[in-house]
Amino acid sequence: MLEVDNLTAGYGDIPVLRNVSLKVEPGEILLIGGENGAGKSTLLRAISGFNKPTGGTVRLGGEDITGLPPEQAARKGLRLVLDGHRVFSELTVYDNLRMGVAARRGDRAGFEKTLEEIYDVFPILVEKRNARARDLSGGQQQILALGQAFVAQPKVLLCDEPSMGLAQALLPPILSFLRRWAEQGTAVVIVEQHLKVTQPYTDRAMIIQRGEVVIDCPSTQLDAELAAMHEARRSAMASG
Ligand SMILES: Nc1ncnc2c1ncn2[C@@H]1O[C@H](COP(=O)(O)OP(=O)(O)O)[C@@H](O)[C@H]1O
Ligand SMILES: [Mg+2]
Repeated sequence: MLEVDNLTAGYGDIPVLRNVSLKVEPGEILLIGGENGAGKSTLLRAISGFNKPTGGTVRLGGEDITGLPPEQAARKGLRLVLDGHRVFSELTVYDNLRMGVAARRGDRAGFEKTLEEIYDVFPILVEKRNARARDLSGGQQQILALGQAFVAQPKVLLCDEPSMGLAQALLPPILSFLRRWAEQGTAVVIVEQHLKVTQPYTDRAMIIQRGEVVIDCPSTQLDAELAAMHEARRSAMASG
């Protein structure tokens, strides 16, 4: 569904991403980890068109969408959820959710159904449906942003650090929601720093360091791969 080959991107003359490749199929969740500044957000932005790649290709369902503006990529079914602040702050929660329908050409019946699913998982959105988005807490806005994306029913969902600014306890429900969502056939990429909590909900894991992929493995092997990487680094340091 999503296929990224040797993607390179940066800011001005400064390269950040170097030849990153990845592949996510419908029903799969790919976890991307790495330290602050590693280039994780840059990767998601380069895939979704917010940042023009300087090399490599992005394919969506076989179609080359490299460098397509974000609205056009969204229309083709690729959606990026940033940490919370992309909701329309003056609109109510309900109207924010309804904005997601625009992406599916006003399919009213489908909207009602997805709305029920989202209310079921996050009852706070029912409770607050008439509140303005700006009056929600950061965590509630984050959930609203996810809800809006869910209503749009993208084929590929890119989710940048959903736990950012949230109470830790909110991460597992968000992850199991993403899992259910994937099971309906969506390909999901999630960037998250809380690897231990996130890993069990995902299929593959990738670690990025200074713009390069240093680990790429089934999620169940992530712990072992990380341990091996740290051990290799320790012995390299010890031998000077
Ligand atoms: N808008 C920007 N302009 C210039 N440099 C940026 C910009 N955004 C990020 N960077 C730089 O790109 C690198 C990767 O950042 P980012 O992709 O945000 O990392 P991560 O999401 O992994 O924390 C960092 O060195 C950061 O300083
Ligand atoms: Mg980031």
